[in-house]
Amino acid sequence: MSGHGQPIAMRSRPRGPLSGTANVPGDKSISHRALILGAMAVGETKITGLLEGEDVLDTAKAMRAFGAEVYRHEDGSWSVHGVGTGGFAEPSQVIDCGNSGTGVRLIMGAMATCPIAVTFTGDASLVKRPMARVTDPLALFGTQAVGRAGGRLPMTIVGAAEPIPVTYTVPVPSAQVKSAVLLAGLNAPGKTVVIEREATRDHTERMLTGFGADLTVEETEEGRVITLTGQPELKPQTIVVPRDPSSAAFPVCAALIVPGSDVLVPGIGLNPTRAGLFYTLQEMGADLTFENMREEGGEPVADLHARYSPDMKGIDVPADRAASMIDEYPVLSVVASFATGATRFLGVAELRVKESDRIQAMVDGLIACGVAVDAGDDWMTVNGDGPGSVKGGATCVSHLDHRIAMSFLVLGMAAREGVGVDDGSPIATSFPIFEPLMQKLGGDIARETLGAVPA
Ligand code: S3P
Repeated sequence: MSGHGQPIAMRSRPRGPLSGTANVPGDKSISHRALILGAMAVGETKITGLLEGEDVLDTAKAMRAFGAEVYRHEDGSWSVHGVGTGGFAEPSQVIDCGNSGTGVRLIMGAMATCPIAVTFTGDASLVKRPMARVTDPLALFGTQAVGRAGGRLPMTIVGAAEPIPVTYTVPVPSAQVKSAVLLAGLNAPGKTVVIEREATRDHTERMLTGFGADLTVEETEEGRVITLTGQPELKPQTIVVPRDPSSAAFPVCAALIVPGSDVLVPGIGLNPTRAGLFYTLQEMGADLTFENMREEGGEPVADLHARYSPDMKGIDVPADRAASMIDEYPVLSVVASFATGATRFLGVAELRVKESDRIQAMVDGLIACGVAVDAGDDWMTVNGDGPGSVKGGATCVSHLDHRIAMSFLVLGMAAREGVGVDDGSPIATSFPIFEPLMQKLGGDIARETLGAVPA
């Protein structure tokens, strides 16, 4: 369970082609950032297209606890009346970020240079995830953190009363760590510099610039050097959140493996730091086209058109592409099961510290469904045997991980015996309309009554 409800057993089975239009919800990464930066600006930030998934709603709740006014209008848009850079009030209660690593790590950064003490916690998945990757660089500003062994939640952070700006090279490719340092740097006088060796999603940089911060990005031999001048007066913005490419991945991949399918997924951001999956699928021979290419809010956007692709081939997915598709490997491993030959994922160690150990979760479930897979610390190989080759029939364990649950439900739509998932409730964290959206396309996906044995 995601911390918000009871476990929900689900299953999916093959049934005719998928067809129609899939309007996926707003981008989760951009939604978190819009709320947090809105809370750090003085005045009203207006947001349309906000993802109303549990992860983002937990961040909205947290922003209220820090003193911002955050509310939803009847038309589905949101407003945030912020308290200004460094203006966070001390919450009277523990901040519970539910399932969201992005939520907790970005909020830790945002409060790290305010003179307040805050205790953070999360659900059974989040309390297992490493926080030292964020608290280590925050300590350089003068922030203190006391948590459980191994830097785990629950954890109390005491913000620096007199923060000093830092220069920090991010040791792992992580947009969350980069963003936490930049958000902390907002309330430190002088220049905070973050260096990342590999480019990760750049929504924080783009949005900080939009809010009026002085931020420069330089490509150097050391990597991307991001320089932020602290203590700007952030100006409230009107933000239109684009649809989430990481959610688009599910209907796109389902269409590629379900015979006869033809699905359009409109308005998907093709920011190069996010779009690695789609180029990888094209390299595998997928019939996936980008239509109506345009620019919206400074981001490249297209309508994705995916059709059944029986001739996909296994390929090597290079390590230097990992950051641009890090959340998409679970569903790519499903597609690779229906391709012919070996698909090798290289340089994917970060998958082991997501909402679950995603390498282990996919290896276990795919083997149970009759797929030949192999894995090591930072790699995974799926040996696909072409269309019709996957037996399925297993009940796969989601480990409180939305993307694992959705990936196996996609697999079940093309596997001969369908697939069960022990708990689909975490899907509500990022893609609350996944079930009706897939059903509308023609997918046979449903909830099981508790205790029932999946097909
Ligand atoms: C995210 C960054 C990525 C990604 C997560 C969202 C973000 O995590 O997996 O789903 O919004 O910054 P890491 O920073 O751990 O790579």
